[in-house]
Amino acid sequence: MGKSLNCLISAGPTREWIDPVRFISNPSSGKMGYALASEAHKRNFKVNLVSGPVLLPIEKGIDVTYVESAEEMSIAMMTQFNEADLIIMCAAVCDHKPKEMWGQKKKKADFPTSIEFVSTKDILYELGKRKKENQKLIGFAAETESCEQNAKKKLNLKNLDWIALNDVSIKDIGFESDLNEITLYSNSEQKVKLSIASKEKLAAQIFDIITK
Ligand code: CTP
Repeated sequence: MGKSLNCLISAGPTREWIDPVRFISNPSSGKMGYALASEAHKRNFKVNLVSGPVLLPIEKGIDVTYVESAEEMSIAMMTQFNEADLIIMCAAVCDHKPKEMWGQKKKKADFPTSIEFVSTKDILYELGKRKKENQKLIGFAAETESCEQNAKKKLNLKNLDWIALNDVSIKDIGFESDLNEITLYSNSEQKVKLSIASKEKLAAQIFDIITK
């Protein structure tokens, strides 16, 4: 039997701490990324999952690196990128972090009325720059308006093979939900709309398409 291919997947949110008891984050449950990891495992990929803080069990046979901040996720993805044949960036990475993290809990009376933020690294953009001929790079796009246009922009900017668009303005699907609705766009102008379904079913359909 030939050597199995490596699949590197990120999932879940990141947390950017303000002080030891407060952070900013987003409602990502990690379900879509974990479903993709499970599907990759079923298809005999060697799976490395880089997971932000989520409440999901990990399937036997999947290697996990747990991370918290965008910075930690970036390091974990960069370290494992060269070995990977297929890379799926499904995590909801925080684009901003507090400029400084206070070492002590900020007391209620001392809490500022505004906090200064700085950008985190765009991990997927960095991966896109490093992508080699034999690697396939897949991203996600969470959009609320001009969805197709914004998704295609990210596909090109981040040098992706496919992007999976989530319209997060539709209630009851996407973030936190068990259901999702996805449209896939490729760098060769293909468009595939997948109807609303469980994240497990969508993961299987996504793999059918991106590994064709
Ligand atoms: N992404 C990333 N690093 C970031 C932000 C996003 O790797 N700091 C990845 C996400 O995992 C996703 C893709 O980039 O695969 C698009 O993420 P999205 O949040 O939709 O878009 P942004 O690039 O953050 O742009 P914007 O917030 O302007 O929509």
